[in-house]
Amino acid sequence: MRPKDPFIGREILDGQYKIVQKIGTGGMGSVYKAEQSAMNRMVAIKILHPKLTNRKDLVARFRREARAMSQLTHPNTVKVFMYGELPEDGSLYIVMEFLEGKNLNQTVRRGGPMDAERAIPVLVPCCYALHEAHEMGIVHRDLKPENIFLCNQGGMSDFAKVLDFGLAKVTEQQMRPGSIILTQEGMVFGTPEFMSPEQAQGKTLDARSDLYSLAVILYEVLTGKLPFEAKTPMEYIQKHVVEPPIPLNQRVPDRNNFDPGLEAVLAKALEKKPEDRFQDAKAFAEALALYGGGSAVTSVGGVVSSSPSITPSPAPSVPVSGPQDAASSRPDSVAARGPSTGLLVGVAAACLLAGVVLAVLVMNFLAK
Ligand SMILES: Nc1ncnc2c1ncn2[C@@H]1O[C@H](COP(=O)(O)OP(=O)(O)O)[C@@H](O)[C@H]1O
Ligand SMILES: [Mg+2]
Repeated sequence: MRPKDPFIGREILDGQYKIVQKIGTGGMGSVYKAEQSAMNRMVAIKILHPKLTNRKDLVARFRREARAMSQLTHPNTVKVFMYGELPEDGSLYIVMEFLEGKNLNQTVRRGGPMDAERAIPVLVPCCYALHEAHEMGIVHRDLKPENIFLCNQGGMSDFAKVLDFGLAKVTEQQMRPGSIILTQEGMVFGTPEFMSPEQAQGKTLDARSDLYSLAVILYEVLTGKLPFEAKTPMEYIQKHVVEPPIPLNQRVPDRNNFDPGLEAVLAKALEKKPEDRFQDAKAFAEALALYGGGSAVTSVGGVVSSSPSITPSPAPSVPVSGPQDAASSRPDSVAARGPSTGLLVGVAAACLLAGVVLAVLVMNFLAK
């Protein structure tokens, strides 16, 4: 029998919050539902695993997540109420609004792939939520369906909230000189299946890396599959760098009626080179909005009636992961994926990257 989680049933912060149950878990810690009786509300509390509080790097990362999230005000980003360190045992915590619903991975796993009419109105607000973060110099770096939550809010269902800025990084130009952030040598952070090619190669990331990851999410939500055929996380990493994505309409034989315009938008967002993609989250949102959620463009029988001027390129152009939700670790999941951060895979990633870089160099050489 597994030992009972010591936080469940516990009152923390002078009895302000009573932890009721665990709602998510990852490599860094767990997320709990808790009652805040003074406010007559439920909250979600993310607590860094007590065993990790002596890991300076992880503590710094957790604090960074809390700080980054508490600066964001977009309604489609989960709201942070407070964060700090429990006086009781020094555990780090983040108190957030409690969301009722399911994350996008759970939603697709249970309900199957979504139509563009449902998926796009979920992803477009996420683009705007990220746009706010990007404008503040914050790159999420771990976008995946588990980190997008669909909640019921004010009578609306499918109200998307971007979660988990656990790998968020302030872009270099925004960094104060001397602040060494996050990436340890040889470590690649992120989730292999959703990693941009530049993330896979351990390069400097900017907002356009998040857009690539969002495009992979949309692709998976629409088809139930990822844009590459791969068996292992390492293989995904490699394919993100060197292999063109499988066009949307070829991915699932019985779901091949996606609007060609939408296929082109996704192809552009999945370009290997950041400069060939949409240049910011707003531009991506505007391009997507034409294909779902009551837009100006009508799509009859899946055939476009108007499509933006996007040239899908047969992008030939290669990427590792960390915590995972308890619920998404079942083998039948749409994405029975491994952990999402580089914590576990740093060394392997470094070796693989060396191989990938070599492969890219050879390919470039042969292409000349
Ligand atoms: N504010 C919240 N309200 C309800 N559920 C949440 C909330 N935050 C996280 N969760 C659930 O817990 C899971 C893990 O949370 P996340 O912040 O992604 O942590 P981790 O770093 O462990 O991945 C999410 O996928 C979601 O299902
Ligand atoms: Mg997460």
